[in-house]
Amino acid sequence: MKALVLAAGKGTRLKPLTNTIPKHLLPVADKPILFHVLDYIAEAGIKDIGIVVSPDSGPYIEEAIGTGSQWGGGVTFIVQPQPLGLAHAVKAAQGFLGESPFLMLLGDNLIQEGVKDFLAEFRASSSDARILLREVPDPRAFGVAELDSSGKVVHLVEKPRTPKSNLAIVGVYLFTPEIHKAIARITPSWRGELEITDAIQELLETGKEIRSHLLRGWWLDIASNDGLIEANHVVLDALLKPNVEGEVDAQSRIVGRVQIEEGTKVENSLLQGPLLIAANCVIRNSSIRPFTNIRAGTVVEDSSLERSVILEDCRISRINHLADSVIGRNTKLAGQGRTPEKIKLFIGDDCQVELE
Ligand code: G1P
Repeated sequence: MKALVLAAGKGTRLKPLTNTIPKHLLPVADKPILFHVLDYIAEAGIKDIGIVVSPDSGPYIEEAIGTGSQWGGGVTFIVQPQPLGLAHAVKAAQGFLGESPFLMLLGDNLIQEGVKDFLAEFRASSSDARILLREVPDPRAFGVAELDSSGKVVHLVEKPRTPKSNLAIVGVYLFTPEIHKAIARITPSWRGELEITDAIQELLETGKEIRSHLLRGWWLDIASNDGLIEANHVVLDALLKPNVEGEVDAQSRIVGRVQIEEGTKVENSLLQGPLLIAANCVIRNSSIRPFTNIRAGTVVEDSSLERSVILEDCRISRINHLADSVIGRNTKLAGQGRTPEKIKLFIGDDCQVELE
């Protein structure tokens, strides 16, 4: 069994951050999204991992992953020259996949339950594909599956205008090598992409059996600014373990689950968890409220932050109530301490913002 992670998408809806950081390396709970996905694979015991990257994002992703030894095995990088769809990415990876069955994951989809049970079910069955489904209120933005009364998949459509069910296809799939033959037979969709949904539908039409697994826990498809904030909220809430390694002075107060890494100093501040402050930060005369992640090397003074993600090496001073925001690396944010309303910002690396 091999694993294939698709991490070539451009992240257009996460600009300007994705002008300088590949989408899959943006952090969720202080860890690149892609690392969470690799953790699922490692937990399921798969050691042979291929990561499909774009020519632009490839070098950054390769540098972040290194040899992949952190996930217990070797990682092979595969360049998809153009973003021509998920099935096109599988085509690009055919040399790596060979005749092996494989687990395919979109590198921007996080799921609560991981993939262990999903994989065990596939191994115990004789189907040619297994897809993960989740009920959603509006399935039109996704691939949609129709099941028969026994739970067998009978029909799949990519982004239908009038969906026949509320079951969206989550970006986690299991395939036998039969999928390559199906991909060879499909043609590009209206959006000019070779859709993996169409390839699975092609398998159905040639009489192959497709099974599904219904996801009940959370599913985060991180495609937009608000999606990134929501993902940080949900994952901090689910996974954060209290652990204070930095220094917190006697004038500060900690409430709830708070993680503070080594080298960070907290002075005269209120920290209300769940929140995570990475290494070598300074938090002074400030109030940091739930679902916030401050990454390493950032200084926050005379400010209050809530449900926000502050990337590395920022300086934030005299900003009142920054909420639902993402601030890029090495950005300076300075106010006069009197902005009474909530401020919501989504800004990239190396910016300078002064509020009067
Ligand atoms: C892709 C798939 C779609 C699936 C979705 C999950 O959509 O084509 O079937 O439901 O991922 O995230 P895309 O992100 O390319 O719009």
